[in-house]
Amino acid sequence: MNKKYVISMLVLLCVPGLQFAQSPVNTLVVRNDAAKETISKFIYGQFAEHLGHGIYGGIWVGENSPIPNTRGIRNDVVDALKKMKVASIRWPGGCFADEYHWAAGIGPRANRPRIVNTNWGGVTEDNSFGTHEFMDLCEQLGCEPVICGNIGSGSVKEMADWVQYMTSDGENPMSELRKKNGREKPWKVKFWCVGNETWGCGGIMSADHYANEMARYSMFLKNWSGNTLTKVASGGLQEDYNWTETIMKKWKGADGWLQGYLGGYSLHYYTVPDWNKKGRATDFSEKDWFTTLSTTLTMEKLVTNHGAVMDKYDPEKKIGLMVDEWGNWFDVEPGTNPGFLYQQNSLRDAIVAAVNLNIFHKHCDRVKLTSIAQMVNVLQSMILTKGPEMVLTPTYYVFKMYSVHQDAAMVPVELQTESYSLGTESIPALSASASKDKEGRIHISIANLNPTKSENLRCELKGTTGAKISGEIITAAAMNAFNDFGKPEAVNIKPFTGAQLKDGILTVSLPPKSVVTLEVR
Ligand code: AHR
Repeated sequence: MNKKYVISMLVLLCVPGLQFAQSPVNTLVVRNDAAKETISKFIYGQFAEHLGHGIYGGIWVGENSPIPNTRGIRNDVVDALKKMKVASIRWPGGCFADEYHWAAGIGPRANRPRIVNTNWGGVTEDNSFGTHEFMDLCEQLGCEPVICGNIGSGSVKEMADWVQYMTSDGENPMSELRKKNGREKPWKVKFWCVGNETWGCGGIMSADHYANEMARYSMFLKNWSGNTLTKVASGGLQEDYNWTETIMKKWKGADGWLQGYLGGYSLHYYTVPDWNKKGRATDFSEKDWFTTLSTTLTMEKLVTNHGAVMDKYDPEKKIGLMVDEWGNWFDVEPGTNPGFLYQQNSLRDAIVAAVNLNIFHKHCDRVKLTSIAQMVNVLQSMILTKGPEMVLTPTYYVFKMYSVHQDAAMVPVELQTESYSLGTESIPALSASASKDKEGRIHISIANLNPTKSENLRCELKGTTGAKISGEIITAAAMNAFNDFGKPEAVNIKPFTGAQLKDGILTVSLPPKSVVTLEVR
């Protein structure tokens, strides 16, 4: 062996500090001194579509069900959702929205028409869960409704009437009808989507065509009785920046005509590495784990690029980027209806949720609302139900643990992370974000994407005098651990003791495949 090499190795091993200098290290600077933007609580929005058991069975069981309920809505599901602080729910779709005719879902349930849900399994939709039932759910949860109107097969009048029905207190036919149906006072509705995926199931439109339709519809959706609608335009396919440009151009317009008519622009992005081979939710290899995480990181690029197009027309960031469909989309569970999109949810889903929430926090000056798809029994759910049983998923626990960030001031972070490599590919091993709440507590959330290696993190806290630290962790022994019916929970929130704070420096030891939230106060 070369003598010089041996000597330098000995120096390296013996001189304290040199080993640290030579080996890569994860560092995080938490810039509490630069906190400015607010993380809107609506980043913690949900999506409930008339799809499979997303509504029927999962939320709505009817008043005569043996499953404990309040006016037909499951008590167990409501209690669990309250605990994770659901901020908003997008409804009734999705693709379903563009064949939903709201008038079919009001009045005595026995008289409501039965239709076929052509998008999702061709099953009978009896319209028993309609506007009043959905608004009851929102009121029970204390969350905001996000209504998605039908532009594909509806009309301007139909959508305008729905707005009037829900929000007007005045003397007009729709307000009278609502009162006749048992609701005296109007509801408040903040968010209104003018169509869904209008490039596809919402009408196969071009960007130009939709921009004109969006303008026409938006103009007739009125602000009644002190209610103010934030109208959300449908976006194009995930990387269709031309679509974004077209809508923003229309919004800005030569004479600014549309400026009062649009408040948000929708982006949908599902984590699917290969649409022809989506893979199983719980039966997967490390390669699948890696590919899913590397695919989900695309969200950073999409939010940045769509945001950059929006910046050209809206530098003041008046229009929110609403990521109102996102999450993992795997193969349905064996033996279930392919049209119901029912999938289990593992620790991998928890990491995906954390990574995306960290991205949304970082871009909270532009991202004002998101809706993970979907809340119950569909795609990357918070909750799974089977008859009277209910399971809380790993994703549920991430949303619950991260709820401390809702409406808190975003604290910018500068992260230097090691790579997580598999074969010839690499992604960042860590993902992080931070915020300061109204009581001055700082919350730092970190995900370790590497399923086999723990990571040490040195964290510098700038602009805080906090001296006490506590933490919570979500992890499990297996990367495909999941919570199942009738079994003790394999993945949930546990206390975390792997962090020390000394002289403003936080050192954290992050176990493999984990999500941690620390509180500094
Ligand atoms: O979330 C399932 C479907 O995915 C929605 O209905 C549609 O908008 C999207 O394509």
